[in-house]
Amino acid sequence: MLITNIGELVTNAPQPSGSAGAIGPAGAIGPAGATGAAGATGAAGTGQPARSSGAESAGFAALSAAALVIDDGRVAWTGQAAEAPAADELVDAAGRVVLPGFVDSHAHLVFAGERGAEFAARMAGVPYSAGGIRSTVSATRAAGDAELGGNLRDLAAEMLAQGITTFECKSGYGLTVADEARSVALAAQVTPEVTYLGAHVVPPEFESDPAGYVDLARGPMLDACAPHARWVDVFCERGAFDADQARAILAAGRAAGLQPRVHANQLGHGPGVQVAVEEGAASADHCTYVSDADVDALAASGTVATLLPGVEFSTRQPYPDARRLLEAGVSIAIATDCNPGSSFTTSMPFCIALAVRDMRMTTREAVWAATAGGARALLREDVGHLGVGARADLVMLNAPSHAYLAYRPGVPLVAAVWRRGRLVAGSAG
Ligand code: NIG
Ligand code: FE
Repeated sequence: MLITNIGELVTNAPQPSGSAGAIGPAGAIGPAGATGAAGATGAAGTGQPARSSGAESAGFAALSAAALVIDDGRVAWTGQAAEAPAADELVDAAGRVVLPGFVDSHAHLVFAGERGAEFAARMAGVPYSAGGIRSTVSATRAAGDAELGGNLRDLAAEMLAQGITTFECKSGYGLTVADEARSVALAAQVTPEVTYLGAHVVPPEFESDPAGYVDLARGPMLDACAPHARWVDVFCERGAFDADQARAILAAGRAAGLQPRVHANQLGHGPGVQVAVEEGAASADHCTYVSDADVDALAASGTVATLLPGVEFSTRQPYPDARRLLEAGVSIAIATDCNPGSSFTTSMPFCIALAVRDMRMTTREAVWAATAGGARALLREDVGHLGVGARADLVMLNAPSHAYLAYRPGVPLVAAVWRRGRLVAGSAG
């Protein structure tokens, strides 16, 4: 299939296969190396994602007056529309922008119930606290598998319609062996990027025995969940798990074959970022309150800082300082953190708009972070870019350029979404 007459083709690929007409690359906004950094193997022994050496990332890159050929679910060619090869099927983009499908590297989609009243109270002045998680835990435990699975599929469909073609999905609202195991099993039906988050909070029945809960979470609960998961995550925060508890859970997860990622420094300064870097986490998520030492540690590591502006929007916290991280050379991903408490959105365009407006990222930086950055946070090389050989996951917007994602906030711009070269939402007409 040939998509031609593309006004702007965002490739995030250093060298388009067709040579002329590049608008980008736009400079080193994906600092740890757009290609090769997200190696699935990591540094020996530690599980540490490899930090790239050599040239800094080409980062965001785009072509104007472009075309793209898809063959067998992969990008086969990109370049100038005038030089495009013939193909059996033709799509006319009519001057619109085509981007890599968004990669949402942080979402909590397995839950029941909702917390609209908590949100309303917050907007009236009640501060956010991690304690709200427990109300979703009771609703989730009480729900049947069909209800949980139905909610999950509805949210996944919402994501897809808004251009998210790869997403991570965490457990963490079950917090018993059986409820965590069914959460990861349900998640595995909709994505390969499943994260075991038994260490979300200490559930009420372990209130007086947090150490007992840590033993459960790194023992039988982990054993029940590991077969369905790729990742292990810990909410390392005051009121959740401390550094030693987080390390113990991540180490057990690694021993069970899972790779670490960490909820870090969301509600205040703390050890989360340092733990993430020490443990070789693919990503430290939130990074709302970071010290100079945290920024330095991230910059010297392969750990991505995943920023979740939907959380700050919905909890009225200060936004993370994206510029400080970017200037230090930290790789940034933007993700939705879709969950019923702190960020009940499945809209990556909304998160991009917040990142641009309120975190002062450029439109190019934000789009890179929501595509290639998310891929790096998931150690994925096949998505997040449209280089030759990439999975043909594409979004076409009813807009001439990627900037419209922030320039026209709240407007349903997504015209069509392809996954593995197949039209899965909208229409290309
Ligand atoms: O990423 N930080 C911990 N977990 C979620 C919030 C979950 C909730 O409030 O239900 C987060 O923001
Ligand atoms: Fe989260």
